[in-house]
Amino acid sequence: MAHHFDVLVIGGGVIGLSVAWRAAGRGLRVAVADPEPGTGASHAAAGMLAPVSEVTYTEEPLLRLGLASLERWPAFAAELAEASGHDVDYRTEGTLDVAFGSDDLAALDDLAVFVAKLGLPAERLTGRECRRLEPMLAPAVRGGMLAGKDAWVDPRRVVVALLSALERAGGTLLRTRVTGAVTTAGTVTGVRLETGETVGADRVVLAAGAWSATLDGLPPEALPPVRPVKGQIMRLRSSAPILRRCVRGTVHGSYVYLVPRGDGEVVLGATQEEMGFDTRVTAGGLWELLRDARELVPGVTEFEVTDVVAGLRPGSPDNLPLVGPAAVPGLWLATGHHRGGVLLAPLTADLCSDTADPELSAICSPLRFQERR
Ligand code: GLY
Repeated sequence: MAHHFDVLVIGGGVIGLSVAWRAAGRGLRVAVADPEPGTGASHAAAGMLAPVSEVTYTEEPLLRLGLASLERWPAFAAELAEASGHDVDYRTEGTLDVAFGSDDLAALDDLAVFVAKLGLPAERLTGRECRRLEPMLAPAVRGGMLAGKDAWVDPRRVVVALLSALERAGGTLLRTRVTGAVTTAGTVTGVRLETGETVGADRVVLAAGAWSATLDGLPPEALPPVRPVKGQIMRLRSSAPILRRCVRGTVHGSYVYLVPRGDGEVVLGATQEEMGFDTRVTAGGLWELLRDARELVPGVTEFEVTDVVAGLRPGSPDNLPLVGPAAVPGLWLATGHHRGGVLLAPLTADLCSDTADPELSAICSPLRFQERR
């Protein structure tokens, strides 16, 4: 093999680049292989770091991961800005979760009880209190819950920063597609590139998002059980910022969020569709987003549409990520982050080191699916 690295990461999204940057910071020789880094799910992601407002019943292990990663974000964002010279627009004003109809309000009340039982930092608000915080909210908004510790970043900026930080840390970016894993006597020892070259590595980290289960050259038990979950988003622009916080809400059970950027941009997301590898942006998908967003923040219909995009989240059978050693030596996984890839990036990078927290590693272990088989 012409080149050899300590760590070779397949996939240059927020997850793969975070793993690579942190590994390079530990003095390892690192490469990332991706023909177009940052153009997959990271390009579509809104960047909500919202473990509290996105908590769901029965998903307490995921909440634990989310809180552990949220805690890492301030240092991660600061170190990344310092290392790259790029700001990632890390914002900490929290998420306001709002309810539109009486059915939505009943669901929010139940959620608030669950959140309080878990001891999470969140405050139940009336409709009027919500509008005092966010005057652009519709008069019809009936109530809300403020998750004041939730935060957000701009994932596109995170990608730019990670690419620069990785390069400055001595990492290598291979702008080419990996066509398969190379195994020697049952151990993954490298990858084959589209160029025909092979590259060796002591550890190959598979971080190819929704495509992670399509890598050739691995025994079936080593492939992660991830599937694409399509999400369509719209980016809108207003002349002045209209929201101070992330607003998410349900409109007669249909879920929508609005994530503001400092320059007046608002990301409106996201559909959740089981459509295989389909990345078409559809009229129906956009209509649903606008229909629901308009009920919560009527002013959005005045905004300019600047971008529409569909991304593929890597969904896993239990909605938990797969991070850690795979069922074949030499291979690690960092995939299956579903709706939480940006939030979970700093924790994932830590879990890909040899000094990772054993309890959090156990939650994410890819081997849990082996044990269930
Ligand atoms: N975390 C938001 C989404 O996946 O749409």
